[in-house]
Amino acid sequence: MLRILVSTVLLGMVSALHATELEPLLSYSGPQLYQRFCASCHGPQAYGDGPVAATLKVMVPDLTRIARRQQNGEFPEQRIREVVDGRAVLPAHGLRDMPVWGYELEAQAPPDQPGRAAAQSLIDKLVGYLRSIQQ
Ligand code: HEC
Repeated sequence: MLRILVSTVLLGMVSALHATELEPLLSYSGPQLYQRFCASCHGPQAYGDGPVAATLKVMVPDLTRIARRQQNGEFPEQRIREVVDGRAVLPAHGLRDMPVWGYELEAQAPPDQPGRAAAQSLIDKLVGYLRSIQQ
């Protein structure tokens, strides 16, 4: 229940972004988005060994083994989508002092459909990329 609530709040925030702020990112491919926003921690090949990882107190997971870590061996699309949704508004998994998506996506704009669609398309690309690199 709490989990559902948290996700709904995050989605609400994602949809509060203005399309114009996301526009420069819309031409990025999944791998490009990943390299720009995620590789610093998760590593260029997503093995969890980015330069920032060593400075964190928490372990940065290897994103090529998400499916393997599941009991059924399947990529948990919905859960991963929720993690990445959160990423679009929270700097880095709750590490608020480390702005990652923040400066592009922090807009206080009212919710609008293009903004929601734009954010959704970035999330789709990232989740699609993560799915494609499962080993
Ligand atoms: C500041 C470092 C940092 C950045 C940048 C970062 N992550 Fe993470 N990520 C982590 C850490 C640490 C964890 C594990 C702990 C947690 O969930 O907070 C994690 C967990 C995850 C998980 C969950 C993996 C699992 O098996 O449950 C996914 C998916 C993920 N990150 C995707 C991304 C994507 C996509 C981006 C870029 C948009 C990104 N991360 C950017 C540090 C980072």
